[in-house]
Amino acid sequence: MKTYWDRLHKLYTKEDWINRPTLFAQWVIKYFPPSGHILDIGGGQGQDAIYFSGKGYQYTLTDISKTGLDYARKKIPNNMKNRIKLVKHDVANPLPFNKEIFDIVYSHLSLHYFDKKTTKKIFSQIYKVLKPHGFIAIMLNSTKDPEYGQGKKLEQDFYQIGEITKRYFSPKSIKEFVQPYHTIMLDNRGETYKDRRIGVHNLIRFVGKK
Ligand SMILES: C[S@@+](CC[C@H](N)C(=O)[O-])C[C@H]1O[C@@H](n2cnc3c(N)ncnc32)[C@H](O)[C@@H]1O
Repeated sequence: MKTYWDRLHKLYTKEDWINRPTLFAQWVIKYFPPSGHILDIGGGQGQDAIYFSGKGYQYTLTDISKTGLDYARKKIPNNMKNRIKLVKHDVANPLPFNKEIFDIVYSHLSLHYFDKKTTKKIFSQIYKVLKPHGFIAIMLNSTKDPEYGQGKKLEQDFYQIGEITKRYFSPKSIKEFVQPYHTIMLDNRGETYKDRRIGVHNLIRFVGKK
């Protein structure tokens, strides 16, 4: 059976932005060490995997959607195949990696679908797999999003919207989840190609160091 995300990935393939590195990836790379191993959680069709791999990073992309991963597999150029590993995984479950093996954990719009308890577990898993002094770089939905408050409220800042659940963060509320990191950068000025068209420039961006 095709899941919500499998169906959405099929629709994404019709969009021009799906094959371009995200604005966040192109902006955040300046904070990264010049080389290392990146874990991307919810990396979808791999446009950022291809971008970072092209800059010399080793890459592990995880995603829950088989369809998303199948598209990523087809798009990854042959000369990058040995540097990008694709792993089907539901991030609500423990990460299937040894501790302290990644230099950077990166996630673009994929860590905001979970209740508070699960979100806390995910962040503690991320901490575990990051090397000492490793980096976390994430972009998330914002309480300033135009759709904030739509759907059925399940928890503070957490809503059921149709088939999926969505959490919204603010620069204040994210602190509870990223508290063990030294904050390098935190704001609500993140953009996507998709949302830029409708005048939305308020996504939460966080870069931290373990
Ligand atoms: C908004 S998309 C972002 C995808 C990609 N990072 C990008 O920017 O194009 C959210 C991604 O999270 C993935 N996802 C949703 N729930 C997930 C889960 N529980 N575990 C792992 N990935 C998940 C979806 O399949 C999808 O690829």
